[in-house]
Amino acid sequence: MTAKTEAVYSDQKKTILITGGAGFIGSHLCDRLIAENHRIICLDNLSLGIKDNIRHLFGHDSFTFIKTDLCAFGKLQNIFKKYTPDTVFHLAANSDIQKGALVRDVDLKNTFLSTYNVLEAMAQSTCKKIVFASTSAVYGELKSKLHENIGPLFPISFYGSAKLASEAYISAYCENLNLQAWIFRFPNVVGERCTHGAVYDFIGKLRKNPTELIVLGNGTQCKPYLYVKDLIDGILFGFTNSCGKINYFNLGVNSATTVDTIARIVIEEMGLAGVNIRHTGGDRGWVGDVPVFSYDLSKIHELGWHAGLDSDSSVRCAVRAELARKK
Ligand SMILES: NC(=O)c1ccc[n+]([C@@H]2O[C@H](COP(=O)([O-])OP(=O)(O)OC[C@H]3O[C@@H](n4cnc5c(N)ncnc54)[C@H](O)[C@@H]3O)[C@@H](O)[C@H]2O)c1
Repeated sequence: MTAKTEAVYSDQKKTILITGGAGFIGSHLCDRLIAENHRIICLDNLSLGIKDNIRHLFGHDSFTFIKTDLCAFGKLQNIFKKYTPDTVFHLAANSDIQKGALVRDVDLKNTFLSTYNVLEAMAQSTCKKIVFASTSAVYGELKSKLHENIGPLFPISFYGSAKLASEAYISAYCENLNLQAWIFRFPNVVGERCTHGAVYDFIGKLRKNPTELIVLGNGTQCKPYLYVKDLIDGILFGFTNSCGKINYFNLGVNSATTVDTIARIVIEEMGLAGVNIRHTGGDRGWVGDVPVFSYDLSKIHELGWHAGLDSDSSVRCAVRAELARKK
């Protein structure tokens, strides 16, 4: 069971800046930290996120949404001056990995430059704590179990490269500008308000054509899926319970789900039968996709956090949430 992080960061009301706050994961973080009585400044350029994810927070005294692009440094600098946040949770990024191979500066700008600008704005302000949304993609295609200290790291996507470069810049800013960082490497995350990924994709395709499902790759791609509320718990647990200069953790589950299993769960939950599943073939969904990986989670487990749901249950929860949203 999850070591629940009830009111983890609520010894006193803090001003917290959340970048990418109108996105899938960011909007859940806004919900959680508002519920814990903090003041949230939510930044997003709405390139991938949507206002509907946070609309229920509009009008809340402690919630401010600012539509801004983190690549515009002057605007970001003014936001830090005006709101003087205590901590930044930096989630804004290009989350569309496939797009990164086609539009090759999208990760440079939205994944890397956004991080650089946040760090530089922090260096020029009183805000010294950054929590960073990193990813399994930084590990590239290593065959062994992924421990945080494994290396050398050679990502195979522009997204993974921009995240690894961001981690490196965070390290240098911590050393040179006295910042403190918490880096969490997420696996595949699923749940309410998901904006991308197999669950989202399959439901969309089957709504258009309930007789056929085209699955990218051969369907045996197998990855750990973490439920978004477990992820938020894990982030806040790690943040509250570690105090090094740079704290870094894999977050995830020990189980994993194949793409074909996701297809089967979606078809079951949609109540469909006789769907013709066609695979595009090959061992991966797209260039830059890492088809199989497994995390070593001993570091976060020893700290006291475990996810509540296993991988298949996380997927099923996400499917049900997505189907409920589209009704
Ligand atoms: N969802 C996953 O499975 C997963 C896995 C590993 C890591 N992550 C990381 O977690 C974070 C959140 O991911 P998500 O799944 O919620 O994706 P998301 O796309 O829903 O959220 C990212 C948000 O950042 C915003 N954004 C992008 N570029 C911006 C910019 N230049 N300025 C301001 N806002 C900008 C987007 O509009 C979007 O709302 C990302 O950093 C992502 O890389 C996600």
